[in-house]
Amino acid sequence: MPTAYSAGNDRASDAKARPALRIGSFAIDPPVLLAPMSGVTDPPFRRLARRLGAPAVVSEMIASREALRESRVTLNRLKAERDERPRIVQLAGHDPAAVAEAVRFCLDLGADAIDLNFGCPAKKVTNKECGSALMREPDRAAAIMEAAVEAAAPHGAPVTAKMRTGWAADARNAPEIARRAEAVGIAALTVHGRTRDQKYAGAADWRFIREVKQAVSIPVTANGDVVDAASLDACLAQSGADAVMIGRGAYGRPWIVGQAAQYMRTGRWPDDPPPSVVADLTIEHYEAMLSHYGRHRGLRHARKHLSWSLKAARDRDGRGLPGAAALRDRLMREEDPAAVIRLLREAFARLEGAGAPDRRGDVDRLGAREAA
Ligand SMILES: Cc1cc2nc3c(=O)[nH]c(=O)nc-3n(C[C@H](O)[C@H](O)[C@H](O)COP(=O)(O)O)c2cc1C
Repeated sequence: MPTAYSAGNDRASDAKARPALRIGSFAIDPPVLLAPMSGVTDPPFRRLARRLGAPAVVSEMIASREALRESRVTLNRLKAERDERPRIVQLAGHDPAAVAEAVRFCLDLGADAIDLNFGCPAKKVTNKECGSALMREPDRAAAIMEAAVEAAAPHGAPVTAKMRTGWAADARNAPEIARRAEAVGIAALTVHGRTRDQKYAGAADWRFIREVKQAVSIPVTANGDVVDAASLDACLAQSGADAVMIGRGAYGRPWIVGQAAQYMRTGRWPDDPPPSVVADLTIEHYEAMLSHYGRHRGLRHARKHLSWSLKAARDRDGRGLPGAAALRDRLMREEDPAAVIRLLREAFARLEGAGAPDRRGDVDRLGAREAA
């Protein structure tokens, strides 16, 4: 994934001034979202992304049965999302009745919208005939969607679905699933432009997403490999989609969806924040993870995020952090949060001092605007 300290970027863009993405009564404006990523886009990360300008975020996938069984976990996740509107909760499941029950449960607890997962490629999910495995069972996928829509109707809540292009290269049936989705009342769709067999290899096929877009009249969000202005433009141009969703591009860069939103508003992709602001954001995120998970779990969970932050860190000339590998090793072993914070501050201060004169990051202003 590109991790450059990207300079501001002015382009004549197809992305500019696009209409909002409408999901039921919610308007996502500009139409760009943070993708759900299990183990990554948890409440601390989503909250930060929102504060940095992401117009919408989606909760990580919850298995329908788990949502019901571990109601306290589900409740905690929803509580932590008080400030996310719409609160979109993603559910996975195989049994239409169980999914319907989980839909009612999440809506009762305060979710605003439900997203159904038909894209997860992980064996532990597909072995239970959930996630992308359902693309091989269009009738069952349709039954799940219909049950979810019926369960959500009394709440007036929209149900969306997220899928891949198909199970394999010779079975790219996303347009068919999309038609079934529209027929049972699904409000909007997201398509990750890869097959299940590809997992995350190869490039996302944005052109194929156009076939889904042409198959239905409900909004379609394109997803896969969007990391900057050029990829966002290409994705929208090739897919003809109504909106874009960004996942791994947010590794170590929680501001990226805010940047994309600003770009869609103004045609200018803001600068990445300078190292001193990245240090503040990284530490704020770190502390939020410790408080969300508790010290022991939080320390361990935070390591991948710290590692991504170091990898993404750039001085004003686009150079990475000197000694990043050794620092990463040290941070991965460090058990004292105060020491982790000190090491981060020192590292980002070294980076701040390096390179050409400062061009203060526009991302500061994204946060300010969001808070206003
Ligand atoms: C670590 C990880 C976890 C993910 N978890 C989910 C998930 O819970 N639900 C889902 O619909 N997609 C999940 N995805 C897929 C992403 O939402 C997205 O479709 C995919 O990463 C492609 O977009 P990107 O190239 O912008 O990352 C996950 C992806 C990754 C890398």
